[in-house]
Amino acid sequence: MTLDEKIGQLAQVNAAGGHVPDHLRDAIREGRIGSVLNEVHVDTVNEIQRLAVHESRLGIPLLIGRDVIHGFTTVFPIPLGQAASWNPTLVEEGARIAAQEAAACGVNLTFAPMIDISRDPRWGRVAESLGEDPYLTGVLGAAMIRGFQGDDLARDGSIAACAKHFAGYGASESGRDYNTTNIPENELRNVYLPPFKAAVDAGVASLMTSFSDLDGVPASANTFLLKQVLRDEWHADAMVISDWESIKQLAVHGFTENDRESAYQAATAGVDMEMASTAYADHLASLVREGRISEPTVDAMVRNVLRVKFRLGLFDNAQTDAAAYAPAANADHLHAAYNAAVASAVLLKNDDWALPLHVESLDRIAVIGPLADDPYEQLGTWIFDGDAAHSRTILQSIREFVGERATVEFARGVQTTRSRSHEHVAEAVALAARSDVVILVLGEEAILSGEAHCRADITLPGAQQGLLEAVSATGTKVVLVLMAGRPLALELAVPHASAMLYAWHPGTMGGQAISDLLFGVVSPSGKLPVTFPRVTGQIPIYYAHKHTGKPATAESFIHMEDIEPRAHQVSVGNTSFHLDAGFTPLFPFGFGLSYSHVEYEHMQCSTAVLTMTGRITISADVVNVGPRPVEEVVQLYVRDLVGDVTRPVKELKAFTRVQLARGERRHVAFTLTARDLAFYGRAQRLIVEPGRFHVWIGGSSNPELRAEFTLVDDTAR
Ligand code: NOJ
Repeated sequence: MTLDEKIGQLAQVNAAGGHVPDHLRDAIREGRIGSVLNEVHVDTVNEIQRLAVHESRLGIPLLIGRDVIHGFTTVFPIPLGQAASWNPTLVEEGARIAAQEAAACGVNLTFAPMIDISRDPRWGRVAESLGEDPYLTGVLGAAMIRGFQGDDLARDGSIAACAKHFAGYGASESGRDYNTTNIPENELRNVYLPPFKAAVDAGVASLMTSFSDLDGVPASANTFLLKQVLRDEWHADAMVISDWESIKQLAVHGFTENDRESAYQAATAGVDMEMASTAYADHLASLVREGRISEPTVDAMVRNVLRVKFRLGLFDNAQTDAAAYAPAANADHLHAAYNAAVASAVLLKNDDWALPLHVESLDRIAVIGPLADDPYEQLGTWIFDGDAAHSRTILQSIREFVGERATVEFARGVQTTRSRSHEHVAEAVALAARSDVVILVLGEEAILSGEAHCRADITLPGAQQGLLEAVSATGTKVVLVLMAGRPLALELAVPHASAMLYAWHPGTMGGQAISDLLFGVVSPSGKLPVTFPRVTGQIPIYYAHKHTGKPATAESFIHMEDIEPRAHQVSVGNTSFHLDAGFTPLFPFGFGLSYSHVEYEHMQCSTAVLTMTGRITISADVVNVGPRPVEEVVQLYVRDLVGDVTRPVKELKAFTRVQLARGERRHVAFTLTARDLAFYGRAQRLIVEPGRFHVWIGGSSNPELRAEFTLVDDTAR
């Protein structure tokens, strides 16, 4: 390969969509392009590949990239919703179907999974994430990678995955997208990096750098991340791709003087491929000629790109035979999307068994709200290829389910989730007043979350709170269904609903899933992958926080309204809380109700002493004491009581799903080894420390049962 041909492999350029313009045709023929993104017309992709393979000197096929984030034509729940299923099998299946539908169009690289730990729901990209927890994100991210890539990347229907955004993007200051991040190395290693390590271990084909800077060094020029961690410590051979123009933006950050220096910094830090901008194309060759960048450095970059192409089998066949694939959005795909939407919904409140609804006892059902019958908004963010024509809305599905058995009437209530006008509220109130139950569907439209769509106040937007209160004031039972791309701060909403079902943006089959959940055809089993704050000002609030030296307790908390006038300031005996919001979330991580009731009993540890080479089995009985069958996500949390660095009050270490018939009891056991208790200490090395551990088993991060064991170092002489 000539130097120019090598540099060509490092360029990813945007497509024109549906045709190959002359400049692209020439660039491909001349070997100046290694990858194209955003082309999904299969004939155009085939033409692009034909040009690369048959009309360029070296005949190297191209990577065809696309944001296939939560489905392709068939849209699955947003990733945060899928995470609420706590079901790696479902998540893997969703990615598999997305891969097949995308591969049928010639796509061979997706920019997913997004595994940025997200502890700030103001950040719009929390929707794309798998939530706040490193372990859950790692498990589900690896499942997505398996789904996209299959066992063999070369097989039809497998596409290369891309773990993004490496790293720390979720810590964008104040939840404002693209903002700076400052993460101490220890927190980075213990919280933000583990999902990426899990992705590398799962064989992810590529990683994408983040737009953000990390402790003053932009991720796209971050030698520490890209060389020390990724290559030297993890020995990853995945391709590293920049984000859109993020190499060019190094100069905008004020990290480099110009594009040429940006190319230098990114290449020496270890970014293999440049997305969209042309700093490499314009400057790498002269940087090599000048001796500032060595040719072996470029060779290593090219090798990382070519390796993905070889693994994808593109050198054997780069053409796509669309007819060889099952049609998109076929019945099987829609059924899988339905299952995912059912599994992702989280029941947050259910007073007096308000749900499930019994259609026989209802004459008039009111469906109200701007999201109840909107085939597009329920799909959520990042649905470039989603087709709303396949969507099943809540209103449609309820009408179909109820049939002639009751009257179903609809009122929008407010025009959009954002509109402030109360013009249509009276009509909704009148409908509520003449109905036996109100199914009120509120939340956020798709465009209020996702990239660049952040909110400083995450309560229900627009006039929706007013609508909720007015409808609730009629005295008719209100079942509140929420569709949103983030956890909303719902403290003010809770008192006005008998039941609350959080559906996220549930995708193509969301309406049918929700209707079936409301009427008890299926039961809710989702658990929150992220903490729900009471009010926005509590952010960041997450379960795996530090204990602090002055932890809050129910006894020490005092609400500001209860403070005496002219009270004296005291500086002893105080603890860590907000005077107006306390110290607990509205709904904790891991929480979710069902249509039954589960109890936990008889927790046991197989040993009181775990050795460095041994294992401990921690178990409990899980009993369904409620009126219906249940699928429960049983969660195991650990606390390391004393550490080389302060440790979180709880960390999720394992979970499993159990299905229990009415009255059924199951013994659920988890096995841990010393490795599971490892963390990065002050020297930023992974260590396992002897000492006492608390361990919990339960149905949320406020788990029911606790035990204790001690880890001893039996290897020391
Ligand atoms: C920018 C986003 O940050 C990234 O996640 C996405 O994959 C690329 N654009 C390509 O669309």
